[in-house]
Amino acid sequence: MVTPIVTLTNGVEIPQVGLGVFLMTDEEETVWALKHALKVGYRHFDTAAVYGNEAVLGQTLKDAGIAREELFLTSKVWNDMQGYEKTKQAFLESLEKLQTDYLDLYLIHWHGPYVKDTWRAMEELYQAGKVKAIGVSNFSINHLEAMKEYATIMPMVNQVETHPYFPQDELRAYLEKENIRHESWGPLSQGKSDLLLHPLLAEIGEKYGKTPAQIVLRWHIDRGSIVIPKSVNPGRIHENFELFDFKLNDEDLAAIAKINLETRYGRDPENTGFEW
Ligand SMILES: NC(=O)c1ccc[n+]([C@@H]2O[C@H](COP(=O)([O-])OP(=O)(O)OC[C@H]3O[C@@H](n4cnc5c(N)ncnc54)[C@H](OP(=O)(O)O)[C@@H]3O)[C@@H](O)[C@H]2O)c1
Repeated sequence: MVTPIVTLTNGVEIPQVGLGVFLMTDEEETVWALKHALKVGYRHFDTAAVYGNEAVLGQTLKDAGIAREELFLTSKVWNDMQGYEKTKQAFLESLEKLQTDYLDLYLIHWHGPYVKDTWRAMEELYQAGKVKAIGVSNFSINHLEAMKEYATIMPMVNQVETHPYFPQDELRAYLEKENIRHESWGPLSQGKSDLLLHPLLAEIGEKYGKTPAQIVLRWHIDRGSIVIPKSVNPGRIHENFELFDFKLNDEDLAAIAKINLETRYGRDPENTGFEW
C-alpha cells in the first residue's frame, strides 16, 4: 500500500500518512510496532528528541534494511536545546541516534524565546544539505507573521493539533495562503475525547465499510493535510493505513465540519509557558 504524496514548497515529497511515535516508550513494544508498520507499508516516521525513542527507531529501521531514500524521517528540536549552537548540537544528536546522515524534515517543536537563533541554525542546516526540509510545530498565525521579520527561508511545514473537534480552519487557510503545508498531530484527538464514538463517523463509515478512525484519517487526507496517527496496536496500525481505497465526498466533509467543538486537548501555543 502506498500513501499519497504531499509536495513541499521546495519540491520535497512527503508521504501524506506517517506513523507518529509519541509515547512509544516501551522498547520491546516500540520495536514490534515499528516492524509491523514497516510490513504494512509505512515509510514516514514522526519522532522528536523529547520522545526519547529516536535510537530505537534508528536501530529498528537499520535492522529492517530498508534503503534510506525510501524513508521519510522527521524529528524536532526540544525547548531546552533551542538557540543557535544548541540547535545544531541537538540536530547532530538526533542524526546519531537515528543512525542517519540527514533528516527529511526538522521542526522547531514549540515556539519560544530563542526562536530567532534556533531558526537561523535550522536555515543553515538546510542550506548545508543536512536536512531536506525545515519547519515548525505549534506555531500560531502571530508566530508565523513574526517570522517574516527574521526568516530568510519560511517554514515548509507547520505541525499542529488538528482533528474534527479542532479543525484549525483559520490557521489552515492562512497556511494555504502562505504556501506552508499543514501537518496534523493528535489526528484522532489522542484518545482524549469521545470523537471516535461520534455517531456521524459511524454513519459515514458504514457507507464505505470503514471505521470511525479511518473516516477521521481520511478527512485529514481529503483536506490535504499530512497526518501521523500513532498506534502500538498491530490491528490499528493496519487500520490507520487502510485509507487509500475510498474518498469522502463534499457532503461527508460538510457534515464532519459541523461536529467541530473548537476544543483543543493539548496546550495552546499562544498561551503556553515555554517549559524547559
Ligand atoms: N508536535 C507536537 O507538539 C506533537 C504533539 C503530539 C503528538 N505529535 C505527533 O503526532 C503523532 C500523533 O499524535 P498522538 O500520538 O498524540 O495522538 P493520536 O494519533 O491522535 O492518537 C493516538 C491514540 O489513539 C489510539 N489509536 C490509534 N489508532 C486508533 C484507532 N484506529 N482506533 C482507536 N484508537 C486508536 C492510540 O492507542 P494505541 O497506541 O493503543 O493504538 C493512542 O492512544 C504523535 O505520535 C507524534 O508523532 C506531535
